Parts: sequence; structure tokens; C-alpha cells
Amino acid sequence: MKIFQHVSDLGDLRTALAEAAEVKRDRYQWQHLGRNKTALLIFFNNSLRTRLSTQKAAVNLGMNVIVLDVNQGAWKLETERGVIMDGDKSEHLLEAIPVMGSYCDIIGVRSFARFESRQDDYEEKILNQFIRYSGRPVFFMESATVHPLQAFADLITIAENSLTPVPSPKERGVYSSEADMIATNNGNHSPLLGRGAGGEAIKVVMTWAPHPRALPQAVPNSFAEWMIAAANSVTPPQRGVGGGLAIDFVITHPEGYELDPQFVQGARVEYDQMKAFEGADFVYAKNWSCPGVTRPEDYGKVLHDYHTMMDWCVSARQMAVTNDAHFMHCLPVRRNMIVTDDVIEGPRSLVIPEAANREISAQVVLKRMLESL
Ligand code: CP
Repeated sequence: MKIFQHVSDLGDLRTALAEAAEVKRDRYQWQHLGRNKTALLIFFNNSLRTRLSTQKAAVNLGMNVIVLDVNQGAWKLETERGVIMDGDKSEHLLEAIPVMGSYCDIIGVRSFARFESRQDDYEEKILNQFIRYSGRPVFFMESATVHPLQAFADLITIAENSLTPVPSPKERGVYSSEADMIATNNGNHSPLLGRGAGGEAIKVVMTWAPHPRALPQAVPNSFAEWMIAAANSVTPPQRGVGGGLAIDFVITHPEGYELDPQFVQGARVEYDQMKAFEGADFVYAKNWSCPGVTRPEDYGKVLHDYHTMMDWCVSARQMAVTNDAHFMHCLPVRRNMIVTDDVIEGPRSLVIPEAANREISAQVVLKRMLESL
């Protein structure tokens, strides 16, 4: 793997989930892969989980790790060509990137949406320069539009907590991939999702929730992209039988917050949050600012005073109409804005295991990159 940006970069999702289960079973078994190899993790923005989990994953694989906080101690970087650099930026990204590439074998980059230009953000102007000029495999640690390490960890978490795993390949007498065989031989459940013997679809609802500040769309974009890919991994008649990831995915948000079609094509949007929550097995909460799909001039804006949107905060009221749903959020989360204390602290909250799975998703990605060096 040379780039990790989209769900398609991971290939077959069942194989990836089986690999994640194998990493979790013994995360130190590939230390030989990372010997004398260096991961450089570059942060243009703050982080707790991504920083720690990715470092841990690299160390698990025997790698050396360098972390650079660009805004704390490095030269300020200019990102635009043609600028007369007479301001506070001492170095251009076009020199800095190949220099950084010369000190490492794999690069991870975090660079959020800047909200200055929708086109620049959605063309991934910063990350694409790392891909083009670093000469190294590049993985996205949350970019302007995607957060794939988070979405992969979310999928792992949903797989681990799906209500009733469908029969394993061994139980079905069918091995549909080598990974299935590995998972079965290791005594793990098949990495398939579903409810009941027929693999009835689990309902996953992603809900917008209020926030006082304008947040990027990277997390909801990726979560939607990954859920749709999981749901489409087989044709509906095969779901839960031939090894499908049986997911009924619904997005709910106020009007104006429609996500970019490249990430949500095929997803059902329900503007009535209570209706969307009915029968849900998993509730995934997240705020995002206006993606500028219907009104480009509103890109990156908070469309309503959050005081008027507090009904969207996930509370016992909405959770009461679900199928005793698990609650998920990528963290950090603002309590009693996005979710009430009782829901996030409740027995169905998965926020901590979800964060723990960031180590696993990062390790699968780094392992595959090391294997491709
Ligand atoms: N969920 C997530 O990416 O957390 P951090 O921003 O703390 O890395």
C-alpha cells in the first residue's frame, strides 16, 4: 500500500477486518517488518488519539518514530507557489516535504480543512503535495476531507459489537478468502456483520449534533464512505450468507448540512432525527459545518446559532426509540452539546473501545505499507 486515503485503498474489507483481528490477537508478531524503518508523523493540527495510537502502532511493528508538530518548533511553512516570502513563513512546503521524506520510510500527515477555499480543501492541496514530492508512502491522519484511520477503527468496533455474528466460514463450510481461513483457524468469529441467523442488516445511524465552532467534514465523510463500502461489499441477496457486511446506513442532519456526494452516494438521508433513530443498532454522532454542497457560499459555516439546535444533542430521548443502540463518537467530544453525560457514560457507549481500536487500524495500515516497501 502506497497511499491510505480512501476505503478502496484497503481492498477487500472482510480481509482487512480479519487482519485487524489477527493484529489484536498478537500485535507484536511483525516486529521484524519495522526493523531499521522510520515513520514520520507530521501534525499541522492538534491531536491526542491519532498521535498516540499511531506511534504505538509503529512501535508495535518495531519501527522508529519521529513526530513533528509543524506549528511548535519547526519553521513556519508557506504552502502557495508564487508568494513573495517576506512574511513570517521561512520555508516553503516544496523544499520541506522532500527533506522530510529523506529522513523516513513512511509519512503520516494531519492537515485539516482550512475553510479558505472549498476547492483547495476538497482537492486535498496539502496532502497531495506530500504524495507528489515526498517519495514515500503517505497515510492520511485526518486531512481536509477524510479521516480513514478513524473510519477503519469505527468499522472494526461495529464488527466487534454487531449483535449476532453470522455463522463463520467454518460453520458454513465455506472459505471465501484466505483471511476467513486465518480468522477461523485462530478461533475468531468470522469478520462478518449481521443480526440473526439470516444475517439481517444492522442499522447504523450517523447523526449531526450541535457544536459552537465550525468543524470540518472529514470524519462524517469517511464514516459514510466506509459504511457504504461495507454495505455494498456484496449484493443484497448475498448479505449475511455469502459473507456480506449487512449494514443499513442512514444519515440524519438539519437541511443545509448535506455531505459531498462523492462520500455519501447511495446513503439514505432522513431529516427527521427521531425517525432516523427508530430501530437503530448503532448511533454515530458528529458535528460538521456546512459542506457547501447546495450553497457553495456557505462552505465551512455554522448555519444556525447552536442554542436553537440543542434538540439534536443525543440524549436518552432519542436513544429510547433505538434498538438499545450502541453510542459511538470519534472523540474529542463536547458533552451536553453532542451527547449527554448519561448516554456517553452509559453501558451501550463504545467511545473508549472505539478509540482503542485506533491502534489496531493504524497498525494494519502501517503493516501493509511496510510490506510494500
Ligand atoms: N479521533 C481523533 O482523531 O482524535 P484526535 O483528534 O485526538 O487525534
